[in-house]
Amino acid sequence: MKNEHHDCSASRRDFLCRSAAVGAAIPFITISSLIVACEKQEGSPTNSGVFVTVDISTIPELATAPSIILTSVSGLNNGDPVFISRVTSTSFNVFTGICTHSGNPINPPDASIARLECPFHNAEFSKTDGTVQKQPTSGSARNLPTFVNTFDAAKNILSITP
Ligand code: FES
Repeated sequence: MKNEHHDCSASRRDFLCRSAAVGAAIPFITISSLIVACEKQEGSPTNSGVFVTVDISTIPELATAPSIILTSVSGLNNGDPVFISRVTSTSFNVFTGICTHSGNPINPPDASIARLECPFHNAEFSKTDGTVQKQPTSGSARNLPTFVNTFDAAKNILSITP
């Protein structure tokens, strides 16, 4: 990590850098996280320390609703993958990609299959919100835990609370 130079030429990074510069009342951990965010490439997920942001304009798979991807977002879900599901043009659901039955990874979304499938014991979950649609062959699974999010449609930025 570079500490001496920040390339803050893009508008979003400008905002983050300005926030860090004027953030005297912001706790240290937040300021340091904003500085880290300044160092990231535009469009990559960033962790502000308060919420994680994802630039949806950089993810063509999520350009229209309904759509869903499986991805890893720095600072979210302890590094485990999450599903980002675009429900409408202005609303998203974000939920874990780890099965609640035995903790194994759920398959990536398949456009030819209506649900998300866990290959280990065949549980199935909603692509929209991660709710259980079919229980595993033995035992039971719970709905996939979700992460609170807000979407800024004007900026195409999804903010997710870790
Ligand atoms: S770990 Fe997913 S169904 Fe068992």
